[in-house]
Amino acid sequence: EVPSIEEKYEDSFEIGAAVEPEHLEDPIRAEILKKHYSSVVAENVMKPINIQPEEGEFNFEEADQIVEFAKENDMDLRFHTLVWHSQVPDWFFQDENGDPMVDEEDPEKREENKQLLLDRIENHIETVVERYKDDVDAWDVVNETIDPNASNERGLRESPWYQITGDEYIKKAFETTRRVAGEDAKLFINDYNTEVEPKRTHLYNLVEGLLEDGVSIDGVGHQAHIQIGWPTIEETRKSLQMFADLGLDNQITELDVSIYGWPPSGEYNTYEEIPEEVLEAQADKYDELFRLYEEMDTSISNVTFWGIADNHTWLDDRASEYSDDGIGKDAPFVFSDRYTTKPAYWAIMDDN
Ligand code: XIL
Repeated sequence: EVPSIEEKYEDSFEIGAAVEPEHLEDPIRAEILKKHYSSVVAENVMKPINIQPEEGEFNFEEADQIVEFAKENDMDLRFHTLVWHSQVPDWFFQDENGDPMVDEEDPEKREENKQLLLDRIENHIETVVERYKDDVDAWDVVNETIDPNASNERGLRESPWYQITGDEYIKKAFETTRRVAGEDAKLFINDYNTEVEPKRTHLYNLVEGLLEDGVSIDGVGHQAHIQIGWPTIEETRKSLQMFADLGLDNQITELDVSIYGWPPSGEYNTYEEIPEEVLEAQADKYDELFRLYEEMDTSISNVTFWGIADNHTWLDDRASEYSDDGIGKDAPFVFSDRYTTKPAYWAIMDDN
């Protein structure tokens, strides 16, 4: 019996994990989840493509399973995500005839359809938030709104959301969530690479501007899809501190520490091939990270891993995609592919 991660950190922040509904029926995985974590988030089933695949046809079955699990086990629940450019059905961005709202030949078409799109996102959020408002502790209201490669100066991602509404979809999303979820709800803007420039500053400027415009935001979600060697702990500290200084909460929302650089070489095809020194180097990264989180615990309320054990991670898809032979195994968590404790587990449980 090894000590519980969530118990170790209970005075500092919640410890969360991303799950799929079927994981909750897997006895070993569910047991680890209950023992070591105090918060859950849906890895996929609360995204718009799952919740409202066709206009007006809501599918809550799988999302409900996760909500029920959180309630039964007295865990916090993060909702991921109300608005995103990915895993969103095409119908959102189609006009009443089923044609794309964004038409290069006809720039005015976007303006004509703007209200329709804003109405749709308002309706989606009203329905979802009304259903789950008593169960959710933190909402990812918008996800990945910044794109450093965007051609606009503010670095706003030029998704259909942006092309059709500018930044109005962001305001509409926060206003609607606040109105329906109430004053006590915790509303987050979530993104990746928040540690580094230029994204850090773009995100900061966006959030500061929204706050100045009276948009009610409680915190920044830092996905933290990071690597053993990147980013530095100083960059991470700086980013968390900047948002804390704005008066905001921070949550670490999708933590995983890839054993590869970027792009991932995917050089290991199985977990067994990963050398011990790589797992030791990963433990050092986890060590400095959790020391920082503890040091800054008054401005961090939740640290969520994007999975539980190394037998299920979205990073395997990426490692395989970029690998020469089309197969790559990553190992980003503190539990191994067989649920044993890794050096990274001992690093975050050790007091030295
Ligand atoms: C990923 C899931 O883990 C995968 O299963 C799915 O195929 C794609 O999405 N940033 C996010 C998450 O905000 O929603 C993504 O999750 C990972 C990157």
